[in-house]
Amino acid sequence: MSQTVFVINGPNLNLLGLRQPEIYGSETLADVEERCVKLSKDLGLAPKFFQSNAEHEIIDLIHKARHEAAAIVINPAAYSHTSVAIFDALNTFDGIVLEVHISNIHAREAFRHHSFVSARAEGVIAGFGTQGYELALLRLARLLNRSGA
Ligand code: DQA
Repeated sequence: MSQTVFVINGPNLNLLGLRQPEIYGSETLADVEERCVKLSKDLGLAPKFFQSNAEHEIIDLIHKARHEAAAIVINPAAYSHTSVAIFDALNTFDGIVLEVHISNIHAREAFRHHSFVSARAEGVIAGFGTQGYELALLRLARLLNRSGA
């Protein structure tokens, strides 16, 4: 049976494809989800995509993942740099956490260089564009002992 992975996206990522395409590309979140779902069939993973602009909703999703998911792939967006509450929520989750940033946060403004979430993540992917989500799923397939990279 496929293992459930929550793919959680934070604020403003609902505008992916429209928002600063020179930084984040022209694909929408729905395009990314479609590619991830296709890839996951071969990996034995079942990704469930979520997006919220509200910190408390992201925390509630992480709590839900405690009972429903083997792993979380999270792009906390701007909350990466501000949210101790999301970090604390991730520490209530026993499964694997991978953090994704579409852009290379280390090559941008200094305030983006630190992420509270990174201290809880098994791995961090930044600057690989939206392909970062697929790379995270490939890594999960390996970590969850399935086929993959
Ligand atoms: C982001 C980087 C963050 O600094 C920014 O606030 C985002 C998106 C990324 O995917 O590159 O909204 O997480």
